[in-house]
Amino acid sequence: MYCLENASVCITGGTGTLGRALVKLLLTKYSNTIKKLVIFSRDEFKQYEMAQIFPPNLFPIEYIIGDVKDKQRLLWATQQIDILIHLAALKRIETAEKNPYEAFLTNVVGTQNVVEVAGQQGIKKILLYSTDKASSPNSVYGATKLCAEKLFLTAQNTTATIIRGGNLLGSRGSVVPLFLEKRKEGFLPITDVEMTRFSFLPEEAAFLALEALENTIGGEIFVPKLPSYRIVDIAEAIAPDSQRKIIGRREGEKKHDEMIANHEAFRTIENEKYYLIVPFVNLATYLEQHEATMVMPDFSYQSDNNTNWLTVEQIRRLIVQYIDADFQPLL
Ligand SMILES: NC(=O)c1ccc[n+]([C@@H]2O[C@H](COP(=O)([O-])OP(=O)(O)OC[C@H]3O[C@@H](n4cnc5c(N)ncnc54)[C@H](OP(=O)(O)O)[C@@H]3O)[C@@H](O)[C@H]2O)c1
Repeated sequence: MYCLENASVCITGGTGTLGRALVKLLLTKYSNTIKKLVIFSRDEFKQYEMAQIFPPNLFPIEYIIGDVKDKQRLLWATQQIDILIHLAALKRIETAEKNPYEAFLTNVVGTQNVVEVAGQQGIKKILLYSTDKASSPNSVYGATKLCAEKLFLTAQNTTATIIRGGNLLGSRGSVVPLFLEKRKEGFLPITDVEMTRFSFLPEEAAFLALEALENTIGGEIFVPKLPSYRIVDIAEAIAPDSQRKIIGRREGEKKHDEMIANHEAFRTIENEKYYLIVPFVNLATYLEQHEATMVMPDFSYQSDNNTNWLTVEQIRRLIVQYIDADFQPLL
């Protein structure tokens, strides 16, 4: 990847699910291209665990304790950084509902700090990982990530780009690890039998980050073309014999997720690999750069109007391949 060649990269939230996948990709596949990789996060234990896999004496990696709410610390950690990938966030819907101000401080103020620091340090490219929950948000988490997107698009003296991703399969606290745990008790909690989600593997998400950094001209929201799944199919894949208990949707949860709202269709373009939501004023430039065409005016991209669906068997194979190699659907 050209823009990463001889580059110093900082990843805020580099110890999370996506961060770990990205670090693995960068330090294994692109190890010769990276000059330095800075991991910026708060919890020393997560950094300690990661340093067992990627020790600083064997890899060009540096672990820095810091909080994105602390701009001075961020300034200190980003000296001579060429590329900053901003993953740090409070991302659990129920946590943000109960602690809206903390979610605001981390996801909104923290992102503004990243944007300001990038401009001050002359960081060449910055990337924000956003979420489908930011499209027509109904939760504190989604609303703070929408604000984070908007803040990123105001960035000066840098090239800012965004990815809106779907649910990372197997990420901490997500449905697959929950069901794997709950099946031991013989029942699975189902929020809504009709609920659907977009599926995104951490490895795919990490690769898309590098692709977006390479191809961006600034101001795009990259939206990957992902398959959807039904929550009940995850249950069927993991524990077909378990009882199901309907517990109802939680505050801030949508029945179906949405990557691109209909009101964004007028500035949404697509190529073979992804959709891109771009600034309307420069539509022609983006169409040319990404070899893309416009979507239809009535377009929207939701997890229930998808044409691509994971089957129960495919879900089982993904669990074995990426989450638990010993997984068997029956205990
Ligand atoms: N997981 C998904 O399904 C999904 C889907 C779409 C988009 N995303 C987005 O992708 C990003 C990464 O998600 P993930 O699943 O990898 O999250 P995660 O596993 O919860 O990791 C979050 C990371 O952020 C760090 N962090 C949290 N608050 C921080 C703060 N104030 N200052 C510095 N670091 C902080 C955490 O480390 P410490 O706690 O040690 O600070 C951790 O390294 C998030 O921005 C999320 O919105 C996630």
